[in-house]
Order: sequence, then C-alpha cells, then structure tokens
Amino acid sequence: MLIKKRTGIEIPSSEITPQHLYLSRRQFMAGAALATTAGLLAACGAGGAPEEANTAAVNSGNGGTAVSATTDELGDPLNTYDEITNYNNYYEFNTTKDGPARLAKDFPTTPWQVEVGGMVKNPKTYAMEDLLKFDQEERIYRLRCVEAWSMVIPWVGFPLAKLLNEVEPTADAKYVRFETVYDPDNMPGQRGRMFPWPYVEGLTVEEAMQDLTILSTGLYGETLLPQNGAPIRLVVPWKYGFKSIKAIVKIELVDYMPTSLWMESAPTEYGFYANVNPEVNHPRWSQATERRIGELGRRPTLLFNGYAEQVAHLYPDPKYDTNLKPRGS
Ligand code: MTE
Repeated sequence: MLIKKRTGIEIPSSEITPQHLYLSRRQFMAGAALATTAGLLAACGAGGAPEEANTAAVNSGNGGTAVSATTDELGDPLNTYDEITNYNNYYEFNTTKDGPARLAKDFPTTPWQVEVGGMVKNPKTYAMEDLLKFDQEERIYRLRCVEAWSMVIPWVGFPLAKLLNEVEPTADAKYVRFETVYDPDNMPGQRGRMFPWPYVEGLTVEEAMQDLTILSTGLYGETLLPQNGAPIRLVVPWKYGFKSIKAIVKIELVDYMPTSLWMESAPTEYGFYANVNPEVNHPRWSQATERRIGELGRRPTLLFNGYAEQVAHLYPDPKYDTNLKPRGS
C-alpha cells in the first residue's frame, strides 16, 4: 500500500522455507472438532473442493494449533502462522512488513467496544465479549494485497451479516462505513501526518451482507494477534487487502459512499470498490500476477481473487469490476 514508488520485490529467505506440516494426536482431535466447520465452508460457497480429502489437523509451526484443512478450496497450501503474523501491512504502527509484529506486540485490545449505529433500527455498542458470542467459524480465504503479494489464511470469525441483521439497517442505508481505533499513544504511525487517521473503509450494504464477508477474531484457531488487527477486523476476500480494515471500533450504516483513507490519500490510485481484477492495473504496477508468500516466482491473479462465482452478480454494471477507480470517473 505504499504510495511512494516501489522499485522491486524482494523475497526474504524466511519466505522460501518449506512449510512444516505434521500431525499430532491432539491436533487431530481438534481437527475432528472442526469437521462441522468444513461443512460450513462448503455451504457458504467458498468451498467446492474435496474438503474431506483436505481435512486434517495442521501444525502451523507455532507450537500446535489446529485447522480443518491443509489447503484452500483451490488446493493451494495455507500460509504458515509465522508468515501470517510476521508479514503485515498496518500503517498505524509503521510501513514495513516486519514492523507491526514488533511494534504492536503490547497494543492494548481489552477492554474493546464496537459501536454499531447510523441508519439502523437497533443501534448498539457491543463489548468484545458480546461479539464473541456469535458462532465463530473457520474460513480459509486467499488474501490478495494490491501490492501484488498474497497468502492463504485460515481465519476465525463470523459473517458480518449476522451483526447487521441484529441492528437492522433501515431501507435508506446503502453503505457501511468502518473505522479503526484512533490511539496515537499506542499506535506510533498515527502520530505522523502521512495519512488522514483514523483508517476508514466502506462496503455497499449488499457487499457487507454477502456471506463471504466476515468479521474476524482469530486465525489458525488462535485469538487474533495485534498485528493482524486484534481484537476484530474485517475480511472481504474478493477485494484487495486494504479493504479488510483492522481494529474496528465503529460500524456505521449510511446513505452516502464513504471515503476511505486510501481514496482520500491517493484519489488517483484508489477507488471505493477495489475488487481484485487482473485486467485493471494499478497506475504504477501490474495486477496481472502475484507472489504467494512462501513461493518463488509469480502466479496469475484470479478475477475477484477466485470468488467470482459467489460475487460477480453484485457487479452488473461494468464500472464496478474495476479494482481501482471506477471506469470513466
Ligand atoms: N487496516 C488498518 N487499520 N491499517 C492498515 O494499515 N492495511 C491493510 C489491511 N487493513 C491496514 C488495514 C492492507 S494494505 C492489507 S494488505 C491487510 O490489512 C493486511 O492484513 P494482514 O497484515 O493481516 O495480512
């Protein structure tokens, strides 16, 4: 997401270490407990692959957490826990990839509240404990950053639709606006003037209600770490990663298209929809291919990040299929 010019892509040696996957009895038991989750994945449409064949407990290399499958539904291996928690974008801490893990280590995430309001019938401020009462599901999704790297991540969370159904958006609500916490005392990056803090993102109500859209509270069966957006972040797998806003404190239903931090910071480069689209390049680099963290070389980028079947119908007007600025605007 750096808006300064990038000259090239370096691959640290840590990323080319093969994943170390093995089973232990404890993890196998945990994997069995998650078998129903694999069913949910298929039901939500993200599946389609032979979950049974893939279902297994996986040691992620972090000392023993379990997930229900070793691959995503396309057969690509999960990234390791170490990769997912040490290669991050979190500009509230700094603009490096390894900085957030270090700088966010002691970021206070309790107590935490999320205010849900605006054009809703039942506005409510949820304590984190209330949000954890929604059934927490595993969702294995690809995350594709606009910088052209990607990962496969086994998130834990719940559909945003479940929360929205509780607060009941009114008929006038057209968009959902999300805001990250503003806490410059604990977020060194927010002390700078480089960006218009707090981080803001938005979705249409239809996108927010799509079953793939989740609020995540964990990954690899573990509570989310601060660098990944603890205690609660959005995950919208068919859009570039910057839409998946971290450390959310406010969700507002509105009747106008929210201006995101990226739209405000770099309006010639970032638009509202930001759907992954290999045919629409970023003004400064191609989106045709991507580098999967942990792999050498590049792979083709998939339209809607491989989720076209589930979401293409949301975009009948071709201007919506662009990843950056809508065509003609
Ligand atoms: N949310 C906030 N609040 N601040 C950020 O800097 N970075 C975004 C997104 N959410 C970001 C954010 C970008 S550019 C990406 S690619 C993903 O988070 C990265 O998520 P990860 O670090 O968990 O992989």
